[in-house]
Amino acid sequence: MNCEICEKMYKFLRILMLLICIGVSCFQLTICFGKLRDPPTSTHYAYFLNESLWYPSVTICRNPPFKTELFEKYGFLNSEITYATTWKRFKYDQYSIQGFFEEVTYAFNEIVSIAALDELTENLRVTSYFSLTHGRCFTLSPKRESTRWGGRYGYYLYLAPDSTNTLNWNGIHVYIHEGNDKLTEKNGVDIFEEHLFVEAGDSVQVNLKVSRYNQLPNRRKECNSSFDYSKSSCVEEGVNDIISTYVGCQVPWVPNEKLPECNSYKQLMTIVTNSTASTYLQETLRKSNCIRKCKRNIYLPLLQSIREIEPNAWSLRIYFSSNLISQMDEVIAYDWNTLIADLGGSLGFLLGLSVFGSIGLIESAVAKIKGKSIGAICPSAKKDTTATVGLGQDI
Ligand SMILES: *[C@@H]1O[C@H](CO)[C@@H](O)[C@H](O)[C@H]1NC(C)=O
Ligand SMILES: *[C@@H]1O[C@H](CO)[C@@H](O)[C@H](O)[C@H]1NC(C)=O
Ligand SMILES: *[C@@H]1O[C@H](CO)[C@@H](O)[C@H](O)[C@H]1NC(C)=O
Repeated sequence: MNCEICEKMYKFLRILMLLICIGVSCFQLTICFGKLRDPPTSTHYAYFLNESLWYPSVTICRNPPFKTELFEKYGFLNSEITYATTWKRFKYDQYSIQGFFEEVTYAFNEIVSIAALDELTENLRVTSYFSLTHGRCFTLSPKRESTRWGGRYGYYLYLAPDSTNTLNWNGIHVYIHEGNDKLTEKNGVDIFEEHLFVEAGDSVQVNLKVSRYNQLPNRRKECNSSFDYSKSSCVEEGVNDIISTYVGCQVPWVPNEKLPECNSYKQLMTIVTNSTASTYLQETLRKSNCIRKCKRNIYLPLLQSIREIEPNAWSLRIYFSSNLISQMDEVIAYDWNTLIADLGGSLGFLLGLSVFGSIGLIESAVAKIKGKSIGAICPSAKKDTTATVGLGQDI
């Protein structure tokens, strides 16, 4: 009597344990399959000595950016050209906006007398763009990789002292960034640019460290894994296109080759309000829909020295002191191998299942369905299978 209750209790406990184990296993398996679909990542650091290195691009903008003494000729009463209302006074019938920008901004040779990379001027490509806040900026990019390191090589920029540029200048903004990034006032998003300000009369030496980051695209954060892709260029082009198409004309800081130049206050007012920091610009930036970049080089400038030279000159040297690159790679930390290990762990530990055990289970199931006919033919086989299946026996 007593023992019958005991046995019933045991049976009940076993089934209860089995159900709990199945539940826990299912829970674990869902997590494992979820990880396989959206794998977690881990990072992997490495150091390389590259045979050759690409220098980053360097963009320089003069401060103050405009020759404001010429503004009066164009009709302006004040020099705040980032305010739309200032443009009411511009003499649209006499001058073009392009002509105005070319005259009131500084040319390359007014900012820099010597620009060289690894001691040669030919190693540099110089491009320029106009900006409403920075005037005319120049981007210097290397034409080839460098193979020599140290303070004698790298970028060298120098403006010789000259009595004509003594007036009102504070210094030069210097931005160090990847070659295909475009930095303008409009797209202040996701550019890994480093900013230095070299004051007039200073000679500055900067040592560069380079790190390379490789991220993996995943389901939540898309990214473009091409090295040529640049989010800032994508945003810049998108925003210029949206704004100039909306107004129907272009200006030097919102270029669009397909459209004519703007030449009325109404157009200028709209284009200035839309292209300077405003809620409209935020809206347009959101519309440009550019994804991130997966692979990027980040350049970290370390200031080495600042020395005073003639008050109306400046010089800057930017160099790699060695060819050491630190690289950070994102790697997938969960794959089919890990999944199988987890499956084995979970099912084996909680349910006592194994591949051989499962074969036995299937065999015994087949045998049961087929009935006694198999058992009659080979009775030893039936005995064997039931022996292997621990689980089947228990219940
Ligand atoms: C390192 O070298 C490789 C090929 O030799 C080159 O593609 C890569 O751009 C170099 N890295 C840097 C940061 O210049
Ligand atoms: C990634 O960038 C390259 C180069 O700009 C472009 O050709 C390609 O279409 C981009 N891919 C995606 C998925 O956006
Ligand atoms: C440009 O600004 C005007 C207001 O001046 C606004 O109505 C319009 O939506 C803006 N357009 C874009 C493309 O942002």
